[in-house]
Amino acid sequence: MAKALPTTDTRTSVELIRRRKGNIPLVCLTAYTYPVARLLDPHVDLLLVGDSVAMVLHGHEATLGASIEMMIAHGQAVMRGSARACVVVDMPAGTYEESPAQAVRSAQRIVAETGCQAVKLEGGIDMAGQIAAIVAAGIPVMGHIGLLPQSVEKDGGYRIKGRTDENVAALIADALAVEEAGAFSVVIEGTMEAVAADITRRIAIPTIGIGASRDCDGQILVIDDMVGLTVDRVPKFVKEYADLRGVIAEAAQRYASEVRNRTFPGPANVFSAPKDPSDTNGGDKS
Ligand code: KIV
Repeated sequence: MAKALPTTDTRTSVELIRRRKGNIPLVCLTAYTYPVARLLDPHVDLLLVGDSVAMVLHGHEATLGASIEMMIAHGQAVMRGSARACVVVDMPAGTYEESPAQAVRSAQRIVAETGCQAVKLEGGIDMAGQIAAIVAAGIPVMGHIGLLPQSVEKDGGYRIKGRTDENVAALIADALAVEEAGAFSVVIEGTMEAVAADITRRIAIPTIGIGASRDCDGQILVIDDMVGLTVDRVPKFVKEYADLRGVIAEAAQRYASEVRNRTFPGPANVFSAPKDPSDTNGGDKS
């Protein structure tokens, strides 16, 4: 039977996140699964169930491979695995762009089925109506401006934003529109450092940077990138704090060799003494 979803009253609230503007930097990471959420929860302020899950865990080419059902399933897992972080779930492409009414319906479904505290959607001026409508329906929204992974096909690839004066003006206008629409915070992705720093000074809600600026009010990375589990290209802005690719490859190699030379399973891994009280038939190792 599935574990009950924890309630939200013990968690870091979106209001607390908003009040961290200009204060101690906000620590944010993506999470997609129950065990990873359990490991990260004590260390972070916010867990984002990003639509990057489509690429990272499901092997899709782009975040466009995410569906609302996929986001809800991973949102539920992360809620079960966390108790104190603020949990935000991404709205996947195709579930909000059409109209504010569509956006409200999708956000309500995500919150009702996961118990998450907020949703995130991509876009600035063009999505201000959607953000305002979701906020008016009582659901907090995190914005996302700059490089927008859901638009990479339209934009012709993963291109850093804010390199031209025109683009800088558009980014600032997007940030102001997202704030004005009522978002409690905004992710700034793949943007020239000075531009992200300027936006951070101009708006009163926290900016969360990814490939953006040291001056942002917080930082976020994709968990698999951060722990060295990403098998394809790792973006320049990522710092790998661990080498889980190496750890897993070495473990698999040792396991393969021990199975082949019959040293695994060893005496400790088989049931040969029926009266041994430590014998269990399940996965509980404690
Ligand atoms: O989907 C995601 O992981 C994101 C982060 C990169 C901010 O949107």
